[in-house]
Amino acid sequence: MKKVFITGANGLLGQKLVSVFSSENKILASDLQPEFFPPEPKAKEGVFEYRKIDIIDKRNLKNVISYFNPEVIVNSAAYTDVDGCETEKDKAWMVNVEGVKNLVDLCKKKKIKLVHLSTDYLFDGRNGPYSEDEPPNPLGYYGLTKLESEKIIKKNLDDYIIVRTNVLYGNGVRINNFVLWVIEKLKKGENIKIITDEFNNPTLADNLAEAISELVKKDFKGIINVAGSEYFSRYDFAQRIALTFNLDKEKITPITAKELKRKAPRPSKGGLKIDFAKKILSTRILGVDEGLEYMKSNLKL
Ligand SMILES: NC(=O)c1ccc[n+]([C@@H]2O[C@H](COP(=O)([O-])OP(=O)(O)OC[C@H]3O[C@@H](n4cnc5c(N)ncnc54)[C@H](OP(=O)(O)O)[C@@H]3O)[C@@H](O)[C@H]2O)c1
Repeated sequence: MKKVFITGANGLLGQKLVSVFSSENKILASDLQPEFFPPEPKAKEGVFEYRKIDIIDKRNLKNVISYFNPEVIVNSAAYTDVDGCETEKDKAWMVNVEGVKNLVDLCKKKKIKLVHLSTDYLFDGRNGPYSEDEPPNPLGYYGLTKLESEKIIKKNLDDYIIVRTNVLYGNGVRINNFVLWVIEKLKKGENIKIITDEFNNPTLADNLAEAISELVKKDFKGIINVAGSEYFSRYDFAQRIALTFNLDKEKITPITAKELKRKAPRPSKGGLKIDFAKKILSTRILGVDEGLEYMKSNLKL
């Protein structure tokens, strides 16, 4: 049983990480809010604790790490609002770069393994999907901060895992994401406009958390892409969502990224190649239909 400190525990991936890791490890979960949203994991007495921690707050972070003394930190905390990162650059830098630096400093000092989440938004989307060794060239500020965090980790630590992923979806408490948004709109009978010219491989957060747990068990070190096994445009993904959840796909109108006019530029042909993950993981990487079916079986509509 390892001691694992999980940040961003109330986020989509964070909730899944807590659930997966708590079956075999002692967990200290943390996030910005005073309480952990989902009911505490079904873990034995004394193996799960929750603390309100801002990763920007060096002193609090240091105190809690000294108290818990983890062998592994899994950092799923981040400022993930891609458009928000363009208008709130200071906040994006503080959370996504300085926050990670704080964790890196502690990991270095106390010889803790760091698992960090990164993104396909590191790339410009001219010729995705991307393998682990392709040169990044972020288009927007979110991608730039995530790239910077990767550089700090690589420069300062030997024992780290950088897991790059993209388009996370899944159920959770107080969670929203593309799939839940599409379901909500179509259920209400609203028309939605979805982009045809942005491609990624959508990733079930539960599946990603399983893969991360396996990587930690294997004591993997380095950079690895872990993402869904199918490459889709957002429009085609929305069509699959409608099909799986028996909703009216006629309400989905195709639109181009240019027409949508969002603040942040995004890679067009983004996404991640997962050949390496498939080779080394026994966790089966799910495709979109399997992921959506899994979600459906756990979602009360
Ligand atoms: N979602 C995706 O499609 C996607 C794709 C590629 C990579 N990733 C990466 O995967 C990781 C997890 O993503 P996610 O979708 O699960 O994110 P999420 O749902 O937005 O969760 C992130 C969590 O971090 C918390 N947080 C924000 N600032 C913090 C701070 N200063 N200190 C402590 N906690 C803080 C957030 O709290 P508040 O909500 O209260 O702010 C939130 O609970 C992130 O590193 C993200 O960059 C995500």
